[in-house]
Amino acid sequence: MDKFVVKGPAKLTGSIRTDGSKNAALPIMAGALLVAKGETVIKNVPPLRDINTFIKVLEFLGAKISYDPGKAVVTIDAGQLTSNTAPYELMRQMRASFLVLGPVLARMGEAKVSLPGGCSLGSRPVDFHIKAFAAMKAKIEEKSGYIIARGKPLHGDIIYFDRPSHTGTENLLYGAVFAKGKTTIINAACDPEVIDVAHYLNEAGAKIHGAGTPTITVEPVGKLNAIEYTVSGDRLVAGTYLIGAAMTSGDVEVSGIEPEQLTMVLRKLEEMGAKVNSTKKKIRVQGPKRLGPINLTTFPFPGFPTDLQACMMAAACTATGTSHIKETVFVDRFSHTMELRRLGADIQVASSEAVVNGIEGLQGAEVMAPDIRAGAGITLACLSARGKSEILRVYHIDRGYHQLEEKLASLGADISRQPM
Ligand code: EPU
Repeated sequence: MDKFVVKGPAKLTGSIRTDGSKNAALPIMAGALLVAKGETVIKNVPPLRDINTFIKVLEFLGAKISYDPGKAVVTIDAGQLTSNTAPYELMRQMRASFLVLGPVLARMGEAKVSLPGGCSLGSRPVDFHIKAFAAMKAKIEEKSGYIIARGKPLHGDIIYFDRPSHTGTENLLYGAVFAKGKTTIINAACDPEVIDVAHYLNEAGAKIHGAGTPTITVEPVGKLNAIEYTVSGDRLVAGTYLIGAAMTSGDVEVSGIEPEQLTMVLRKLEEMGAKVNSTKKKIRVQGPKRLGPINLTTFPFPGFPTDLQACMMAAACTATGTSHIKETVFVDRFSHTMELRRLGADIQVASSEAVVNGIEGLQGAEVMAPDIRAGAGITLACLSARGKSEILRVYHIDRGYHQLEEKLASLGADISRQPM
């Protein structure tokens, strides 16, 4: 187990390229299970713990995978799926593994998938996925911690999500591609990663319309083809560096990202007093001497992303005045507040809302990363804090950020990874 050792305060300055998006790469890899012949080549796959875990899930199902992390390329041959089961041992490590339910059901007519684990962001049910497949006439059974879904072909229908679900929408796209009849998803997630998945499936031969809007339609096709596809840049990683620049009076330019994917985040940074300049695929943020306070509410895309809430809270800790941060996607996603308080932050949480009274400066301390995004927020807070901090449990951060400490060091931070 490793820890990060940080000596602050830092002033992040320089240019950096964001890696490929984890939350697009994972579902695209799951989508490759629908391809019965040939090798799918996926490029710009970030070298992360979650990618390695997901490769193990796909291999357990019988897919042949080769992965070159240096080149960020994954090759998947799903010609012979030998198992329809995604076991607990792998699923408990990462909730996104539930994404294999749709492809395995569509390919094999039966899927047995353990109920997921991963980041503990409250209860995180999978009822939308299950109800949607039941509406497509799959028979669903829940037994000993597993969901068993049977049905081939699935039947297209109009599926209503109670609220937009990111992986729920992606799972359903896979179920719908080979279904009998057209599927319409109402209240679909509009996230850029969902658009990326739909682009990939369409390039492979699917007929999906409306991705990026709340209504998606899927016309069934007979097969998908093996293709080469490049995953988009990671908006959440990019957003992390940009928030870091804003809160350390820094000046950072991030490339490899579509600025529209971060519109809400950039607006909020501007409201706090940062200067933002975007061009095609590049965003530059310059932080003021001290940020002002912020009111923000997380919301499904295009709203403010829940995944960057912890980073914004870290920024609010040392802003002038009082900030209000309301979480509406995962209502109890506030595990970072305890750690931020250890650095001296003044934060009160009541129900799903945090009130942050900005203080002049944080003080370094021993803290830990409770999950991927909370870990990133805490790391930024340690950068801005005066003195030495140690961040434990960085394996959570490694699930979603490739060598975060090296990237931050390249921007001028005094941060290193050390074995415990
Ligand atoms: N929900 C249900 N029932 C369901 C599915 C979702 O009630 O069957 C609720 C959730 O509890 C939550 C809301 O709907 O309150 C939205 O959840 P969603 O399904 O959109 O989340 P997810 O698909 O499980 C993905 C990302 C998360 C990210 C969320 C929100 C991946 C692999 N995961 O999760 O990313 O926070 O969308 O944008 O794409 C991360 O990368 O660190 C991460 C946690």
